[in-house]
Amino acid sequence: MAQESVAVRAPMVKGALPVDDPNAAVWSNATPATFPMSPQVHWPNRIQEVTVKDLSVRALHDGTQVAVLLEYADPTEDPDDAAALEFMVGDKKAHFAHGQPMAQVEGGPVNIWYWKNKDNKGVDMNAKGFGTLKVQTHQDVKAKGAYANGTWKVVFSRPLATEHADEDTQITPGGFINIAFAVWDGKKDATSGDLREKGSQKAVSSWWYFRAEAPPDYSGYYYAAIAVAVAFGFQFVLIRKLKKGQPA
Ligand code: HEM
Repeated sequence: MAQESVAVRAPMVKGALPVDDPNAAVWSNATPATFPMSPQVHWPNRIQEVTVKDLSVRALHDGTQVAVLLEYADPTEDPDDAAALEFMVGDKKAHFAHGQPMAQVEGGPVNIWYWKNKDNKGVDMNAKGFGTLKVQTHQDVKAKGAYANGTWKVVFSRPLATEHADEDTQITPGGFINIAFAVWDGKKDATSGDLREKGSQKAVSSWWYFRAEAPPDYSGYYYAAIAVAVAFGFQFVLIRKLKKGQPA
């Protein structure tokens, strides 16, 4: 398994972002980052054992939109299979458990991008502590999942910036923001028929970093080209003057 990472880096790409296609070739432009996932043992209802142990994450942006691809092993495809991304909103530090106020963290709103297999779409949500999870009135998030060979690939996409900075995380190319993940295996328990992983009972990560890479800066080349042109111009004038026998 690839070396554990700390940050998802989204290079900027030209052309269409693969927002609907987890298998698009352009995803090879993004270096996968791998994150450990662990059972949610922090808060009732806890769970001791979960299906998903680690998650591979790739991301791309085109200067306007961002797309994030999650890839993870799940032996069975179930209607209630689900995955989510979580971001802090604004500059208030928030705990990765829904922005729940904790002794060491004052608490702040979090923006959650949620996908569930049976609906196969993106749901834009907010929370500021347990019991406060709500679906936003303005939905900016899209999501699409594809299951094959025991592996889920789920693409989330959204504009980098939205008009609702009070509820939506804003992604500025060149800056680092926090990101966390949650995954639910919708497999039903063989005996009880109940969902084993639902609501708070899921695989979670803590905060890691996300960075949409800044667009390539060509200004250095422009200045170099201008300097060369000026030098050539100066030389041209000098040579002409010398040829005419005038003093330089
Ligand atoms: C230690 C970390 C976490 C704890 C203790 C926790 C706890 C909970 C609880 C108690 C619920 C039930 C609803 C509620 O009370 O608000 C819930 C639901 C949910 N959580 Fe978390 N959570 C954690 C981390 C995360 C993370 C990191 C994400 C997103 C990346 C997330 C996304 C969700 C979503 C989308 C639901 C609703 C699922 C559904 O409707 O089935 N949670 N969680």
